[in-house]
Amino acid sequence: MAIDVIKGSIRAEFSTLRYSQVWEDADVMLAALQPEKSSILISIASAGDNALALLLTDPQQVIAIDINPAQIALTHLKVAAIATLGHKDCLAFLGVTPSNARTDFFNECQAQMPGTAVRYWQDRQGDIDRGVIHIGKFERYFSLFRRFVLPIIHSKKTVEAMLAASDLPTQERVYADRWNNRRWRWLFRIFFGKFLLGRLGRDPAFFNYVEEGSVGNHFLMRAKRALTQLPVANNYFIEYILTGNYSGRHGLPPYLTETNFATLKDRLDRFVVVQDSLESHLSSTPPGTFDGYNLSDIFEYISADDTQRLLLEIARTARNGARLCYWNLLVPRWSQGDTATVISRNEELGAKLSLVDRGFFYQRVVVEEVIGATEFPPSSVGQR
Ligand SMILES: C[S@@+](CC[C@H](N)C(=O)[O-])C[C@H]1O[C@@H](n2cnc3c(N)ncnc32)[C@H](O)[C@@H]1O
Repeated sequence: MAIDVIKGSIRAEFSTLRYSQVWEDADVMLAALQPEKSSILISIASAGDNALALLLTDPQQVIAIDINPAQIALTHLKVAAIATLGHKDCLAFLGVTPSNARTDFFNECQAQMPGTAVRYWQDRQGDIDRGVIHIGKFERYFSLFRRFVLPIIHSKKTVEAMLAASDLPTQERVYADRWNNRRWRWLFRIFFGKFLLGRLGRDPAFFNYVEEGSVGNHFLMRAKRALTQLPVANNYFIEYILTGNYSGRHGLPPYLTETNFATLKDRLDRFVVVQDSLESHLSSTPPGTFDGYNLSDIFEYISADDTQRLLLEIARTARNGARLCYWNLLVPRWSQGDTATVISRNEELGAKLSLVDRGFFYQRVVVEEVIGATEFPPSSVGQR
């Protein structure tokens, strides 16, 4: 089924599970939004990870919204797993650690899920058994890279040497002496170029607004930066891409850590999952509702004009001082023109966070603040 995102702007298929993990750095999102206690926040759900991480800020409510029913079913499943299981079993169920008991765990979790999500997963028992963090189209693309391309480029030992590097000079040395060979540059560029990535990892329509010459080259440069200028030691994204899982040695997404688990469990009653487009949801949201917006990179797929229209709608539904956080992957998007009179871009913080962003594929982190909203009394926003 094809679903239009913002009338007529894009025809991308948004019904299969695209992401079973969120590939945007939650720490960057938290540093960008810095919500006060008791805030009302809205986040693109995607695989649920970063929307769940927002619970760590002690909000009044987090709305996790996604247009794609499969992403919504996954978000419900993760919420149910945190609500039902202990930390160790949760990691085993989701696929971080090995398990033969995932079907049993799923059966236990069902009571905490809406019927639609239960039926979605009952039809996909194989995915449950594999561990759901590994089954998105994007994660399967990384799996192809790891199984068929990476072994042609590098020996296991070289991959281990990169992952074991404990400081940037060591990373730079491994990169220069062992990593940066011709096969790396050629195969990486081809595998993460527009053609293959568009068809097998993302969607050709996701590149509609990309003007930049070589997508493969962009990602090669970003990968070089991640491997030489950002510590690998705490980059769980890199560990996952290179090994296919998280050992814990390179950190974990915040929603999966043992330290955060009890807090999340405690606050799940403040987490609301909504299947809708952001545009449609905001159109029925009263002014002055939200304190923070985590927007993933949704502007990547929509025209410059539609971006400004959606940003104005965000300003209308925001409280004064509300913050926005989103990413530009290949398409430059931020508040401009009339929108810039009500939403002010914090270039300094955006640039600072872009430099430490472990989700290294992105060109830029955009941090903005709503400066033109009128104060309205808080509204009640949605039901779980
Ligand atoms: C924006 S995508 C992340 C893309 C990823 N970073 C990439 O570029 O490959 C994350 C989620 O946003 C959802 N999404 C995109 N546009 C949306 C919209 N207008 N309203 C609600 N959800 C949307 C998608 O269904 C997806 O699950």
